[in-house]
Amino acid sequence: MIIATTIEALQEAKESLKGSIGFVPTMGALHQGHLSLIQQARAENEHLIVSVFVNPTQFLEGEDLDAYPRREQADIKICELAGVDILFMPGIDVMYEKDELSIAAPAIRGYVLEGERRPGHFDGMLQVVMKLLNLSSADRAYFGKKDAQQLSLIDQMVKHYFMDVQIVPCEIVRDEKGLALSSRNVYLSEEEKERALSLSRALKTATRMVMAGELNCERLKTEMREVLAVTDEVEYVAIVDRSFGLLEEVEIGNTIILIAARVGKPRLIDNLWI
Ligand code: PAJ
Repeated sequence: MIIATTIEALQEAKESLKGSIGFVPTMGALHQGHLSLIQQARAENEHLIVSVFVNPTQFLEGEDLDAYPRREQADIKICELAGVDILFMPGIDVMYEKDELSIAAPAIRGYVLEGERRPGHFDGMLQVVMKLLNLSSADRAYFGKKDAQQLSLIDQMVKHYFMDVQIVPCEIVRDEKGLALSSRNVYLSEEEKERALSLSRALKTATRMVMAGELNCERLKTEMREVLAVTDEVEYVAIVDRSFGLLEEVEIGNTIILIAARVGKPRLIDNLWI
């Protein structure tokens, strides 16, 4: 495995790759969720590039940029074992100059739900993903459904800017009790972890209700909020179509149910595609 920390080293390493390239961008502190993307990309491409870069432009003032978990040595080992060809770990100066043009997330899709709570977050996310996709020359890039709105916006950017890369959505990985894996779960105490399970429980409740024929979104959300009452704050429970338009009735095959809630310090997100 080649570890590239500069653009030049990355371009040089890429020259030795002949055949299809799969790419998995991450912010590091790799867990089983990241690993499932890496394994899928490994299986579907001749070569595999992973990036680890904690992107400052997608953190808002007062968010956890400085405290964001960093585990470079462990990340390197995981990537090596997973058969990564190139691990790209740039510093901030490698990725950004001082006075750069910016990318703005779309005014509606980019400013509801996560975009409303974290205004500007998606602008910075799209900016770095654009840079990373261009640098990787990937045929396919892999993103988790865990960050459903992020995935949808990246898909839109690739279409609107005619970028020649296929975006591959990957399933959400959970722990044995159902908690969606996240780098921020390390902030949870044991007691908070237990309460955090209410997110996946609420989604299971919704699944059961939909299976029993309940399609009314208000009634689904009311039941879900009851399950979520043990969290410290429910930021939103939303039922949207795949374009992030609000729904009144579930449309099977075109619906995402999303939750954001705070348990202790961290805000947690989870969702279900039906
Ligand atoms: P990060 O949070 O490190 O996540 C990297 C990728 O792993 C994302 O596509 C995310 O959706 C996926 N992922 C995280 N937890 C997952 C889980 N439990 N199951 C499945 N996939 C999971 O998302 C980012 O980084 C950044 O915004 C990035 C796209 C790298 C741009 O900076």
